[in-house]
Amino acid sequence: MSILKTDSERLKRFLTEIAVFGATENGGVTRLALTDEDRDARNQLKAWFEEAGCETHVDRMGNMFFVRPGRNRDLAPVLTGSHCDSQPQGGRFDGILGIVAGLEVVCALNDAGITLERDFIVVNWTNEEGSRFTPGTTGSGVFAGKLEREAMYGLTDRNGLTFGAELERIGYKGVEDFDPRPLHANFEYHIEQGPVLERQGKTIGVPKGIVCLRWYDVDIKGVPNHAGPTPMNERQDAVYAFSKMAVNIFEIGLASNDVVTTVGEVHPQPNSRNVIAGDVHFTIDIRGWDETETDRVCSEVEEAIRKNAEATGCSVDIRQTWAVERAPFQPELVELIHEKAGELGLPALDMVSGASHDTVYINQFAPSAMIFVPSIGGRSHAEVEETSWADCTAGADTLLHCILKTGNDPEGVTYAMAD
Ligand code: GLV
Ligand code: MN
Ligand code: MN
Repeated sequence: MSILKTDSERLKRFLTEIAVFGATENGGVTRLALTDEDRDARNQLKAWFEEAGCETHVDRMGNMFFVRPGRNRDLAPVLTGSHCDSQPQGGRFDGILGIVAGLEVVCALNDAGITLERDFIVVNWTNEEGSRFTPGTTGSGVFAGKLEREAMYGLTDRNGLTFGAELERIGYKGVEDFDPRPLHANFEYHIEQGPVLERQGKTIGVPKGIVCLRWYDVDIKGVPNHAGPTPMNERQDAVYAFSKMAVNIFEIGLASNDVVTTVGEVHPQPNSRNVIAGDVHFTIDIRGWDETETDRVCSEVEEAIRKNAEATGCSVDIRQTWAVERAPFQPELVELIHEKAGELGLPALDMVSGASHDTVYINQFAPSAMIFVPSIGGRSHAEVEETSWADCTAGADTLLHCILKTGNDPEGVTYAMAD
């Protein structure tokens, strides 16, 4: 008997059609959370899932749950999904692949006339990226009880618009919560976003977990002054201070034991070519698998920032704006992904997720694991982000079989929480 597969052409059509919302000239997408583009993509997802026979629930954070009823609705459901927001000038696969692959699983099950024992839920978590509103993984973080809803409603973007008002404006502020807990199992399917799978010639990545993460916002205060008459040795130049800090931050990451450090946003003020900058606001992203080494790097970075501020005659304010523990996945579900990839003839590789995902929070209350597929050239969070259609389908097939197995687990089968 041939093994059940997803429909590659249909998956490609879903991905291609949803990429229209926020499409950029160079083949990527800019679909920041709670913008019109995010709303339009959400509307499309809702239409597709309902056409495929799913119920839609939207909670007070705008998380969208598409439910395919199982035979025994009293059993704990299985969950998959990811996010449909993107980075500015981001890629067409990050996040959205995991949602449309969930939709493709629904369609493949429908085509085969299969009703699972358990409800199968595909979710679109709100504001995973954290680019417009910080912190990210906001919808999943509130759902997990790790972030506070009212505080998240109050987050502002760079134009002073609030998360709560924008959620309402796009029509996705649900009036009540939807809580399908306890969950039997959660699988998030995602592109790798790094170079490992491609370099090793493997199709399916099986991460043992997600690295821990720390975010900082830093404000440097110097003295704004005229670029011409001010002598070089009398300047308190916030851009000069920033440059020294940025060099140090990069080099501390380079010298560390597998911790990565990134300065992503830089906002000098007044940002004029003939003014010595009086202020610089910048952000730092620090991640690693080893929490102790990551915290050591954080301390070294903080110290370097303070030293450079003092040496350049500037003052500095450093705030840690977000910290998430690493997420080790459920070993039996990790093993199940290996098993299903093996049955499908797909070469698989154990790895760690260097990117963060909504599962970093869902993992804290539901047995979870992730499925990765290769990113061409290891590029992501960029318009060139690409994964072959064959690999997208291979990941969707693996997801389908993980859902078939866990969605049909009889009453009494449970997966222990990961340590
Ligand atoms: C999200 O994509 C992240 O890893 O920051
Ligand atoms: Mn993502
Ligand atoms: Mn991302």
